[in-house]
Amino acid sequence: MNDRELYKIAEEARENAYAPFSGFRVGAALLTAEGKVYTGVNVENSSYGATICAERTAFVKAISEGEREFAAIAISAGDVPSLPCGICRQFMYEFAPQIRIITGPAAEDGSLQARSLSQLLPEGFALEPR
Ligand code: THU
Repeated sequence: MNDRELYKIAEEARENAYAPFSGFRVGAALLTAEGKVYTGVNVENSSYGATICAERTAFVKAISEGEREFAAIAISAGDVPSLPCGICRQFMYEFAPQIRIITGPAAEDGSLQARSLSQLLPEGFALEPR
């Protein structure tokens, strides 16, 4: 699956975002090493601090289904670019310190931005240094 296909799935997943407080809707599509995709959205809460981001929702869904190897995650926040927050970076670092992170919005030619988590979080926390 290429970046654009994965990003499209994130865009579609975004429809299900639950963001009545911020109005900032996010969708994510997480690609496993074997090619399976798990989606996620941000799920906000009246107790604002209980909110979970789209990226972590996708990871929690995948991990709880037994997945452990990940290749890429695409994140869509609609027409604005959005990089993963610090908590999500550390959360992803636990499972996939090198994961490919694809963000939009797509340029006119359809191109997207791609970074690795090691660029966004070069020295994350691990109980045993990696
Ligand atoms: N949010 C995400 O889902 N992912 C990010 O990478 C950044 C922020 C959500 C959390 C909250 O529901 C809303 O966006 C505004 O912060």
